Order: sequence, then structure tokens, then C-alpha cells
Amino acid sequence: MNAYSLPDLMKNIVVLISGRGSNLRSIVQASVAQQWPARVAAVVSNNPQAAGLEWAGQQGIATHVVNHKAYADRPAFDQALAQVIDPYQPALVVLAGFMRILTPEFVAHYAGRMVNIHPSLLPHFPGLHTHRRALEAGHREAGATVHWVTPELDHGPTLAQARVPVLPGDTEETLAQRVLQAEHELYPRAIGELLAQL
Ligand code: GRF
Repeated sequence: MNAYSLPDLMKNIVVLISGRGSNLRSIVQASVAQQWPARVAAVVSNNPQAAGLEWAGQQGIATHVVNHKAYADRPAFDQALAQVIDPYQPALVVLAGFMRILTPEFVAHYAGRMVNIHPSLLPHFPGLHTHRRALEAGHREAGATVHWVTPELDHGPTLAQARVPVLPGDTEETLAQRVLQAEHELYPRAIGELLAQL
């Protein structure tokens, strides 16, 4: 056996994004620094303008755009998305700021191998505007949750959470920034632990 016939033992991760991609960045950086038995093989975005796509391309990671605006309905979009993802045979599909609601069929197709990060301490504040809602509710603590993706939005079983304090004088922006920083530590850690079990 020579180097060319060694089996490829690296698992594939496919990351779905819609925008900035700062969580994507923390995951890619951790995968390299910590020598995970997995690589981010591809980044897929529904938004052609997503800043994370450009960054991923600069890292030599395959990038794809599946623009939801080009599809008649959710099932058609989700089918096109799966057609891009499946050739990578991903051990994990990682949603990192992916702002589309997924069909039950798509979720079922990736059951047990699709995770999401949500910027609240679920079960508090599923959906949008989590920081504003945490402030309005007078919560003293905020945070982020990594969870399995199930058909109900932001409701799958929790894998890990990070907590941060809500400080006097916090605005939506200052709280969002503190939570995001915690996300950048939480998401790679949760994925690293998950990979060890897969
Ligand atoms: C994060 O706050 C994440 O929790 C939420 O969307 C945001 C994505 O940020 N789902 P980024 O694109 O990873 O910078």
C-alpha cells in the first residue's frame, strides 16, 4: 500500500450559511487547529452575497449558491439544496446563520446529522429578534444553544449551551456581540464533541 491507496478517513462537514459567516470561520479554524477527523468540505448559501462565501473560497473550500429566489416553492428549493449537499456524503450538516425554514422532508433526510446554533437559551425565544426579546423580558442571562435540527423550528434536542450575563445598559447590539463571542467558542466545541461520537 502506498500513500495514494490510503483510504480517506476524514469525514465531511457541509456548512449552510446566509450571511456573515463568523460561526463558519470559528468552525473551520477549530477543525484545522484541533486536527479534527473531519473537514469543512463545502459551504452552501442561499444568498449569493453572503460574506462567508468569499471567505470560504479564500480558504480553498468549495462553495455553492442555491438561491431560494430561483425556486417556485420550499420543496423545490430544498430538493436543489440536497442535490448540492449529498455528493459530499456529509457526516454532519451544520447550519450556521442559515435563514431559511426547512421542509420536514429535508429535515428527515438529514435526521441525526444536522445541527443548528440559535442565539438564545432555548427553550426561550425560538425564532427571530432573540436579544431584543431577552432584554424586553428582563432576563439576567442570555446565551446560545446548539441543537439537533427537527421539523419544528428551533426546537430540537439541545446538545450544548453557553451562557452570558445581561449587563445593565445592554442594548440589542451589545448583547448580540457578547452572545456571538460565546457562540464562536460553543459551536466548534459542540461539533468537535459530536464528531468524536459519530
Ligand atoms: C448567529 O447569531 C447564529 O446564532 C444565528 O445567526 C447568526 C449567524 O452569524 N443562527 P454568523 O453568520 O455565523 O456570523
